[in-house]
Amino acid sequence: MEDSRLVTPRLREEDSELDRTVRPRKLEEYIGQTQVKENLKIFIEAARKRGEALDHVLLYGPPGLGKTTLAHIIAAELGVQIRVTSGPAIERPGDLAALLTNLEENDVLFIDEIHRLNRAVEEVLYPAMEDYALDIIIGKGANARSLRIDLPKFTLVGATTRAGALSAPLRDRFGIINRLDFYSTADLVQIITRTARILKIAIDAEGANELARRARGTPRIANRLLKRVRDYAEVKANGVITAAVAAAALNRLEVDEKGLDRVDRLMLETIIGKFDGGPVGVETLAAATQEAVETIEDVCEPYLMQIGFLQRTPRGRVTTRLAWEHLGLKYNKKDETNQGELELG
Ligand SMILES: Nc1ncnc2c1ncn2[C@@H]1O[C@H](COP(=O)(O)OP(=O)(O)OP(=O)(O)O)[C@@H](O)[C@H]1O
Ligand SMILES: [Mg+2]
Repeated sequence: MEDSRLVTPRLREEDSELDRTVRPRKLEEYIGQTQVKENLKIFIEAARKRGEALDHVLLYGPPGLGKTTLAHIIAAELGVQIRVTSGPAIERPGDLAALLTNLEENDVLFIDEIHRLNRAVEEVLYPAMEDYALDIIIGKGANARSLRIDLPKFTLVGATTRAGALSAPLRDRFGIINRLDFYSTADLVQIITRTARILKIAIDAEGANELARRARGTPRIANRLLKRVRDYAEVKANGVITAAVAAAALNRLEVDEKGLDRVDRLMLETIIGKFDGGPVGVETLAAATQEAVETIEDVCEPYLMQIGFLQRTPRGRVTTRLAWEHLGLKYNKKDETNQGELELG
């Protein structure tokens, strides 16, 4: 089901074309994530020099932070082809075998949502990753025997929003594991400015900053907000996105100064109003707000925790002083677990 929220980090129908046009193609165009980029740069260069396949790479982090983009960049920088698939698309071991046997030496196989691979498929993947080989069982019962087929050397790039859902044996087979973090406001300003240039959208520095502050640390949201605010600027202002135009447009779209929308606010208000600020379990919270547990865990929480509005404790979710104050409420909890503001940027 399509996510109807303007600030969802998940891919929406309207993003697909935008993603294609503005997606960076080279490592040097990829903004932010400095640590990840520097690591990859070294490993890629080494693999290229030796003419070998790059070690398998796992990319994890919340939606919309650039995992798919990075997978394509890795292949481009290696100068090899990329085959794209996803965990749920590989239904049977034979599907994976077909993909693997069609690779060319040093190619990249990108498996998105790799935590959703089924068990039987995962087991075929282990020897493929480790020994570049497929073990095929021929025959049945007492006559069954195993046949080993050599595969071309390849690089598996796996992406997931839920590293915790990955089985340990699978995780252990990745030589390079990178976590993508939320972007700083300064990085998002750069991303917005770059996208505006490509799409020929007029925006000034303050306008870019205003959008960046409300984009939840997420490039996909930044680009989407830019497009929406452009429409507003064309109709209501003289086409230029200034700070005032950006703020007016986003207020109208109910995206507040921190990038929270109705759903986030409802969630915080529910924890505060119905559960005295928490702790409250995610299931209870889902029932009270009529949101899916998955939406709460994958979309709302990572960002609310990043900005220091929410904490996850063993007993459940707890709102912090910052969250109360953001909603214009007076903080009245006794146990002070608040760790102060974690500003983006
Ligand atoms: N570092 C970056 N610099 C510039 N643009 C970026 C960067 N990272 C992501 N983007 C932009 O954000 C969009 C979303 O990124 P991408 O599709 O790679 O995210 P993702 O992590 O794969 O998300 P999902 O978890 O939903 O699959 C891209 O189309 C790209 O335009
Ligand atoms: Mg992706």
